[in-house]
Amino acid sequence: MQPIGPLMHEHRLIERLIALMEKEAGRIEAGARPDSRLIDEAVDFFRTYADHCHHGKEEEILFVELRKKPLSDEERRILGELVEEHVRGRALVGAIHEANGRAVPGDPASAAPLVPLMRELSGFYRVHIDKEDKHFFHPVMRHFSKQEMDDMLAAFEKVEIRVFREKYAAVVERREQAAGPR
Ligand SMILES: [Fe+2]
Ligand SMILES: [Fe+2]
Repeated sequence: MQPIGPLMHEHRLIERLIALMEKEAGRIEAGARPDSRLIDEAVDFFRTYADHCHHGKEEEILFVELRKKPLSDEERRILGELVEEHVRGRALVGAIHEANGRAVPGDPASAAPLVPLMRELSGFYRVHIDKEDKHFFHPVMRHFSKQEMDDMLAAFEKVEIRVFREKYAAVVERREQAAGPR
């Protein structure tokens, strides 16, 4: 299997979450009260699954290995864009998290900033995923041998284990801090 296999598979789940966000943005725009729990879950999904896990595999493994290869100018340019887009994605998710925290139940005006941010993140991610899937992942695979691909797949699994452990260690630490000294 090529390492882009699991990455593209993950893109499909990210797209499903994006579709849910777009639906929620439409609901808020139509005057409904924001589902702050759904938005919190979406923020957690983007931070843990899309950023730490998925972008972790891209930035810490695939992109690192690609930079060692004789990439074409076009490939190198797109690689730079993809990394910049990950940074922008993180900032947008942070902004959604803050806006969700500021939205007051029963005050539609306080929820209004959520809609453009959610739409911007959805649109941006769709373009980013399309760029990786259709214009980058397949052509760059020619730079790798079968052994290099297998090594990347093994390294991907280590990222998943690390993300899982870090996530739940952070949950315990946060709750310990909130609980105060024993
Ligand atoms: Fe990416
Ligand atoms: Fe990706």
